[in-house]
Amino acid sequence: MAGKVFFSVSMSLDGFIAPESLEDLMGKQWMELQQWLFPQRFFRENLALGAGGEEGRDNDIVRETFERTGASVMGKRMFDAGEHAWPEDAPFHTPVFVVTHERRDPWERSGGTTFHFVDAGIEPALAQAREAAGDRDVRIAGGGATILEYLNAGLVDEFSIALSPVLFGSGIRLFEGVDAGRLALVPVCAEPSPRVTHLSYAVRQR
Ligand SMILES: NC(=O)c1ccc[n+]([C@@H]2O[C@H](COP(=O)([O-])OP(=O)(O)OC[C@H]3O[C@@H](n4cnc5c(N)ncnc54)[C@H](OP(=O)(O)O)[C@@H]3O)[C@@H](O)[C@H]2O)c1
Repeated sequence: MAGKVFFSVSMSLDGFIAPESLEDLMGKQWMELQQWLFPQRFFRENLALGAGGEEGRDNDIVRETFERTGASVMGKRMFDAGEHAWPEDAPFHTPVFVVTHERRDPWERSGGTTFHFVDAGIEPALAQAREAAGDRDVRIAGGGATILEYLNAGLVDEFSIALSPVLFGSGIRLFEGVDAGRLALVPVCAEPSPRVTHLSYAVRQR
């Protein structure tokens, strides 16, 4: 059976998932947005940030999100931000399809992550990801522009948001330009943790 297509992001309370400039990415706002994620044991191990970490429900959600993902799709700006920041053993451990206008050979990392650069648009990228994922799900990893393209094309089945208690004021807004007339949401789960509120929705066509 084919897997689902989903995204899972951290979002500020006022709707942003990243600062506007990649130069600000590791700044205060980003750290506050992701403050729930960095202490989690699974996240720390996967990014080689060191041993130890928290093991509660937040950690379970991070692990479950990783385990359901058989392949990822991401935009070129997210790839650019990660290319120099991810460790040699990149944290995906599956094929990753980068939607881009750039032509580039696949980039294989140790530990099972290979980045494939797809210049034919979002649907061919997703088709390749589905094929690679097999029975598991495809994660639209980000960033905002790429998630929005897949949402508006009706290609996302469900999504999760870790709603962080931080206000950005400006930046990359997750739902900027969403086709609200076409998409309806069905609440699946709302789960607070001490650090963040996890919200999950199924996406339906109106
Ligand atoms: N808060 C979170 O949980 C979270 C999660 C993931 C990412 N992020 C953040 O999101 C930010 C990036 O988001 P973003 O919205 O700026 O950019 P993005 O979606 O990562 O990438 C957009 C770029 O991808 C390429 N692209 C997208 N669609 C395409 C298409 N149909 N055909 C060809 N190329 C296409 C284009 O690059 P080219 O024209 O250069 O090829 C486009 O400029 C980063 O700062 C990242 O850290 C946050």
